[in-house]
Amino acid sequence: MSIVTIEKHIIDHALTSNDISHILYDINVAAKLIRQQVIRAGLTNLCGVSGHVNESGEVVQRLDILANTIIKDTLSNHQRFSFMGSEEESAVVQTDTYETSDYVILFDPLDGSSNIDVNVSVGTIFSIFKKNPQANTLLDHCLQTGVQQIAAGYVIYGSSVVMVYTAGNGVYGFTYDPGIGEFILSHENIRIPDSPMYYSVNEALFNACDSRNQRFIQTLRESLSLRYVGSLVADFHRNLLKGGIYMYPATRQSPRGKLRLLYEANPLAFICEQAGGLATDGCNRILSIEPTELHQRVPLYLGSAALVNAYTQFN
Ligand code: AHG
Ligand code: MN
Ligand code: MN
Repeated sequence: MSIVTIEKHIIDHALTSNDISHILYDINVAAKLIRQQVIRAGLTNLCGVSGHVNESGEVVQRLDILANTIIKDTLSNHQRFSFMGSEEESAVVQTDTYETSDYVILFDPLDGSSNIDVNVSVGTIFSIFKKNPQANTLLDHCLQTGVQQIAAGYVIYGSSVVMVYTAGNGVYGFTYDPGIGEFILSHENIRIPDSPMYYSVNEALFNACDSRNQRFIQTLRESLSLRYVGSLVADFHRNLLKGGIYMYPATRQSPRGKLRLLYEANPLAFICEQAGGLATDGCNRILSIEPTELHQRVPLYLGSAALVNAYTQFN
């Protein structure tokens, strides 16, 4: 039996620098620490809301705060990054070693956090950039286009825990083996299937979408099954493996969409393209959008190339 740990895979797989390998390794450690909290949340008074509202105006759960702290502490203790943007931080975080480390990390520490209390899959999403040599402010380091990403990935805390990453050289998935405490390669060179099975959208928003989205959803209903759990990581992961499209359109309540460009759309778009899929906001390739705000929202259509193309050509 051949076993490839995530550590070995990261080292072997043509990563441009040792630093990136170290950052990915630290994220795998942070993922194990978050997993430990997620699986025991009901026993440790970690369910429920924290009493705070984040920069996006959303209610912050206790586990959102803990996951954010775990990631920030694990990576900054190892001096792996200079600047960090997080869904749960109002401004850019600068480390004490910002002059000596070369990287910027962007995180959604806990995605789908409304699902924590009800045992539905949640996740962590990450995106890694080099520092921006043209930056004049801390913010400029974080406001880079998605095509500049060096690596990106996510961890899904589901019926099993899986970490998926790309460093621009294919997409790889690793399943956590709790018996030995390691992520082991389980999904080699993931390719999104050409023949899709699912569409994923919050159907309750149908009446709040424009007519183009409504008519597109009607065509999807005719040929595909609907699957939507309300954790982007889980909905994306399923469609990545089975084929399909995830969409979160602009709505009357959220005219710029709900999902965040830097923490959610960019990293998943990078993975999706690396797996042969596409990601758009309806007009523009997600990875080409120039961000202007840290917590910028964007409409998102993500998944099998044929379906994403079908939306962009749909009138
Ligand atoms: P987060 O928990 O990081 O704020 O993200 C929630 C997001 C995403 O995970 C999910 O796809 C979407 O919100 C669900 O929104 P609706 O409840 O509006 O469908
Ligand atoms: Mn999220
Ligand atoms: Mn989140």
